[in-house]
Amino acid sequence: MDAIAVAQQTLTQKGYLDLEVDPTLDLFEEINRLKKEKNAIILAHYYQEPDIQDIADYIGDSLGLSREAANTDADIIVFAGVHFMAETAKMLSPQKKVLLPDLKAGCSLADSAPAPLFKKFLEKYPDHVVVSYVNCSAELKTLTDICCTSTNAVDVINSIPLDQKIIFAPDKNLGAYLIKKTGRDMVLWNGACMVHEIFSNEKITKLMLRHPHAEFIAHPECEEHILAKASYIGSTTGLLKYTQKSPAKEFIVATEAGILHQMQKASPDKVFIPAPPENNCACNECPYMRLNTLEKLYLCMKHELPEIILPDWVIQQGRVCIDRMLEISQKAGHIH
Ligand code: 13P
Ligand code: SF4
Repeated sequence: MDAIAVAQQTLTQKGYLDLEVDPTLDLFEEINRLKKEKNAIILAHYYQEPDIQDIADYIGDSLGLSREAANTDADIIVFAGVHFMAETAKMLSPQKKVLLPDLKAGCSLADSAPAPLFKKFLEKYPDHVVVSYVNCSAELKTLTDICCTSTNAVDVINSIPLDQKIIFAPDKNLGAYLIKKTGRDMVLWNGACMVHEIFSNEKITKLMLRHPHAEFIAHPECEEHILAKASYIGSTTGLLKYTQKSPAKEFIVATEAGILHQMQKASPDKVFIPAPPENNCACNECPYMRLNTLEKLYLCMKHELPEIILPDWVIQQGRVCIDRMLEISQKAGHIH
């Protein structure tokens, strides 16, 4: 059996094509060649490693990436991000081939709400509208009325009539932030992102004392006591834009550290400090996002595997909540 056949056999177990890549290959050149040859587009999230961000056709937050996936005329979408993002792209462009360099690039937040358990939970709240953060599985989206991202979540909640009861899933931290921001009482699912829950209040306080002119900014997936210290709270795109327009020269950033690459590129004269995690680990890097490498990206483009495949019923039922979200986002001016 040749190496490709063996790699295909172990694909499900490993999550990626385990093939050797010639270390002398110029992967940037090869990936660019494959992009043209196959009419493929690479969509990358801000939390990807810098090399992947640099080779991508579009870098963005969850909302921007969904919009690009819906609008592209490429034949192949290569998703440099995590599984739920690639699934969302497939739901929005079902006729296209969607590739993910490593199928094991999951998400602790999406995993915290398994669809069968969530379905049982919903039985207790029959008269509630279900709003889910896009960081959830495709199956969970089939149980959702309106999807949201951190960019449009406030507009999504505000689009719901005041007398309508709401369930918000799966992120309890974003949910608590939205309750505060919108004044709406919502039933929250008890999920969280492992990266955004790791920041150390004490270490951030010390860092702020050492950098008195630095602004502390945070993603709303962080815990309430961390958000309470922030002078700006926003999605990855929101945080990036904020650092560009703020007159401050120094920022302490509480979100996955990958975003610092774009912040530094956009404002080379400013200083960006990643908010420190509790332990002396690199836990502010998402272990799922970082499963994607340039080598896996190259292999998945070359062999067009692993591919995201979803049942038709999941695509049809799941995309309804995403379409509603895109409509609200357009009206609110977040996308055009
Ligand atoms: P945004 O890119 O929408 O800010 O979301 C961050 C995130 O955690 C993605 O997994
Ligand atoms: Fe999921 Fe958190 Fe990683 Fe985003 S950073 S993909 S929410 S685990």
